[in-house]
Amino acid sequence: MSDVILRTEGLTKHYGGVHALQDANFELRRGEHVAIMGDNGAGKSTFVRQITGVEQRTSGRIWFDGREVDFAGPLEAREAGIETVFQNLALADDLDVPSNLFLGREKFWLRLGPFSILDRKAMRAATEAALKRTAVKIPNLSNTIRNMSGGQRQCVAIARTATFASKLIIMDEPTAALGVQETAQVENIIRQLKANGEPLILISHNMRQVFDLVDRIVVFRRGRIVANLNKAETSGEDVVSYITGAKTAPEYEGAA
Ligand SMILES: Nc1ncnc2c1ncn2[C@@H]1O[C@H](COP(=O)(O)OP(=O)(O)OP(=O)(O)O)[C@@H](O)[C@H]1O
Ligand SMILES: [Mg+2]
Repeated sequence: MSDVILRTEGLTKHYGGVHALQDANFELRRGEHVAIMGDNGAGKSTFVRQITGVEQRTSGRIWFDGREVDFAGPLEAREAGIETVFQNLALADDLDVPSNLFLGREKFWLRLGPFSILDRKAMRAATEAALKRTAVKIPNLSNTIRNMSGGQRQCVAIARTATFASKLIIMDEPTAALGVQETAQVENIIRQLKANGEPLILISHNMRQVFDLVDRIVVFRRGRIVANLNKAETSGEDVVSYITGAKTAPEYEGAA
């Protein structure tokens, strides 16, 4: 079994004339936690959307868990074992919290084709346990997602990643909308994922958080990867100078 869980080669996405992502060569090892950093518009979310089949790439190749993949949509990626917390949340507005948590993985009390009965009680109990881990208080689990705050929605999505074992977890700015306490809890969830050996891609603008949590930092600038830094061998100032373009890593010379 290969040590590498995810690899992209020349991953490129153009929106008309906008080169949102250009020639991204990226690798993530099993158990590794990597941060992707970069200014607004650097191409971070675009990268995530190509990997998870939300959009179809312009060119490039993707390998996941030992095979080349070409996901037609986010559900396919999810079925393959990639659990993603999207920046623009992919929750179903009209469903309540347990239904969102179990979307595509519903528990059945009876499973007989059209006569299937959902095990709502089991789903609700599992949801309560999952949300406890995020510290977010959701007054009424039966409320549809539509009526929740941005932070509450974010916590439901994060609780989902912590509930089901997956082969890769991607979080796109998971704590951007969260309060201090909720952020701390989400960071604890991430530490737990690390302890469990579950690999993670964390997109974050929060330098303190990134240095606290990950092993490696990949910097995007104007759609290109411009640095790949071992956390132990870099500093916050260093990362900032790659983000702003003040500095270029020798191996990416001529990239941005
Ligand atoms: N659907 C789209 N159509 C056209 N241009 C797009 C589209 N989505 C993104 N872009 C452009 O692609 C570039 C990269 O956007 P992306 O959302 O990947 O940035 P980001 O690094 O995630 O930024 P942020 O930190 O603000 O989330 C931007 O210039 C953006 O305007
Ligand atoms: Mg983004």
